[in-house]
Amino acid sequence: MNVGGVPLRPLAAAPGRDAVVVIDQRALPHRLQFATLASVQDVFTAIRDMWVRGAPLIGAVAAYGLALQARVDASDAALAAAVAHLQSARPTAVNLAWALQRMQRHLFALPASERGGAAWDEAGAIAEEDVRVNAAIGRHGLPLLQAVAARKRGPVNVLTHCNAGWLATVDWGTATAPVYQAHAAGLPLHVWVDETRPRNQGASLTAWELGQAGVPHTVIADNAGGHLMQRGQVDLVIVGCDRVSARGDVCNKIGTYLKALAARDNGVPFVVAMPTSTLDLALADGVSEIPIEERSAREVTHLAGLDAAGSVVEVQLTPAGSAAANPAFDVTPARLVSGLITEHGVVAAQEDALRQLMEERR
Ligand code: MRU
Repeated sequence: MNVGGVPLRPLAAAPGRDAVVVIDQRALPHRLQFATLASVQDVFTAIRDMWVRGAPLIGAVAAYGLALQARVDASDAALAAAVAHLQSARPTAVNLAWALQRMQRHLFALPASERGGAAWDEAGAIAEEDVRVNAAIGRHGLPLLQAVAARKRGPVNVLTHCNAGWLATVDWGTATAPVYQAHAAGLPLHVWVDETRPRNQGASLTAWELGQAGVPHTVIADNAGGHLMQRGQVDLVIVGCDRVSARGDVCNKIGTYLKALAARDNGVPFVVAMPTSTLDLALADGVSEIPIEERSAREVTHLAGLDAAGSVVEVQLTPAGSAAANPAFDVTPARLVSGLITEHGVVAAQEDALRQLMEERR
């Protein structure tokens, strides 16, 4: 996607194959800042501390992390240790494990002398595949928006939560891919952007990237979604996902479940954009089996933003003595999900449909 009219991705491999350059998302929307990651430890820190975030992107960046390790020591033991280390950076999004296991399988089949170059190539393949997958999600999601446009006057109103945009992937985004394609096709649309407390990925990242693309949007407090649905001001909810269980339960950023409940109560379709790399067929019951990351209480008690002088400052919101809890994800049961937009088409959030899809694609 473009920033200031110039194509940009959140991840770029250095030509010398010795580093990756990422957008440091902690600085957005106030500054576009880049970070160079030159070691497996740099990559671990960038993922754990959310310089990069979003399920597909952390998978691709971690793949490059393993490639950086392979430059230094490509033995089985060193690679396995790096996989375990990188995988521990964030526990919920399955794309991290998916990408690292794909890398490990690929590299272990080769002699150590060939692993350095092969690792870089495979990480590049994962990144480029993500771009193709998300573009396909956009193509399959576009008719959903066109169908709404065909039966109403005025713009199609989409509500999204967190950032499942191009910043969360290598390009296009997942939930935003149909939006960007609809916008390019001239479909009138408008996006309600949930702020997404406590880290505000909606307010700071989704709003920024929609603005760069010229997509009309309005930032709302997380609590406003249900009200807007009751008033008929939301045609469709589209969100991303971090892990989907075999029976179609959807784990995504905390607060997604409440949007799905409000959508069901108001007859609004609740659609999830899901690259199949986010499907975890090893888990059946997403509600009880998906590990939920617990992040620092400081993300709840404090907030950062621009002050009047244009400096980024952090302020405390809560009384000094109050405890805070910060579960970073929740799980929306499959029964509340209207459909999953995958790179192969729209599929029901049901175990037989998901297993059949993966069987056909093997
Ligand atoms: O904690 P984050 O910012 O990594 O969480 C991101 C989300 O929950 C996204 O919705 C999800 O990863 C899908 S990204 C295409």
